Amino acid sequence: MNTLDRQTAPDQAARERMKASHDLDGDAVRLAHLYRGWASAFDQDQARVGYCGPLIVAELAGAVQTAYLAGQRNAIAILDAGCGTGLVGVELERLGFRLIDGFDLSEEMAEKARQTGVYRHARGYVDLNGQLSDYPSASYDLTVCCGVLTLGHVRPDGLRELARVTRPNGFVIASTRKSYAETTFFEDQVRCLQDEGVLLPAQCLSNGRYVAEEDAHYWVFRVPEKVSAPTDERP
Ligand SMILES: C[S@@+](CC[C@H](N)C(=O)[O-])C[C@H]1O[C@@H](n2cnc3c(N)ncnc32)[C@H](O)[C@@H]1O
Repeated sequence: MNTLDRQTAPDQAARERMKASHDLDGDAVRLAHLYRGWASAFDQDQARVGYCGPLIVAELAGAVQTAYLAGQRNAIAILDAGCGTGLVGVELERLGFRLIDGFDLSEEMAEKARQTGVYRHARGYVDLNGQLSDYPSASYDLTVCCGVLTLGHVRPDGLRELARVTRPNGFVIASTRKSYAETTFFEDQVRCLQDEGVLLPAQCLSNGRYVAEEDAHYWVFRVPEKVSAPTDERP
C-alpha cells in the first residue's frame, strides 16, 4: 500500500484544496478569494500533504547567511515574499533571524503571519505579479519565496521585483515545484534574467523534498552589483 492509498478523507480534502489553488492561472482576485477561505485550515492542510518547503528554504537562508553575508544573523534583513500564514518566518526565527518582513496577496493569510509574532510587519494585498511599489530598491539582504513560484500563482518574472528589493550581493532564495519549473521553462527565464544582469544563479538543490506527491527545486540567486548606465557625455 503506498502513501496515497493510506489517505484519510481530510488528507484527500487537503490535496484537493492545494490542487484547486493551482488551477487559478495567476488570477489575483480568485487567488485572494481562495486563500481567504483557506487561511484558518492552511497549516493543518500543509502538514497533511507533507509540505517541508518552509524548513528547507529557511535552512538554505541560514547556510547562505553563514557562508556569504557578513554580520550577525539577527541583523540580516529578510523579506518573506508570499509569506502565507508565516511557516517560513517561524523557521527563520527558530534559526536566529530577527528582522523578518513579509507580504502576501491575501490579507487573511498575512493576518495569520502577523499572529505568529515573528514578523516586524506582514502586509496583505501585495501582488508579486505586479510592482512592489511600497518596497524601495535594495532594502533587504535576503529575500525568500517559498511555494509562491508555483502552478497558477506567480510567474517567473516575479523574480525581477524580488531582485530589485534585494541589495547588490544579497540573495534571493526560491522554491519551484518541479512541474512549475517545467511548464514555465523556468531555467530559460532565469537565463534571460541573468543575461539582463538582474540576478545570477548561485546554487540549486534539485529534486528536493517539497510535498509528498512532488519534489521541488530550491534556487539561490545572487543579486549582482549594478553596472552604472552609460551616459551620453563624451570626453
Ligand atoms: C502555497 S502558499 C505558501 C505560503 C508560504 N510561503 C509557505 O511556504 O507556507 C502560497 C501563498 O502565495 C500567496 N500568493 C499567491 N499569489 C500571489 C501573488 N500574486 N502575490 C503575492 N502572494 C501571492 C497566497 O496568498 C499564499 O499565501
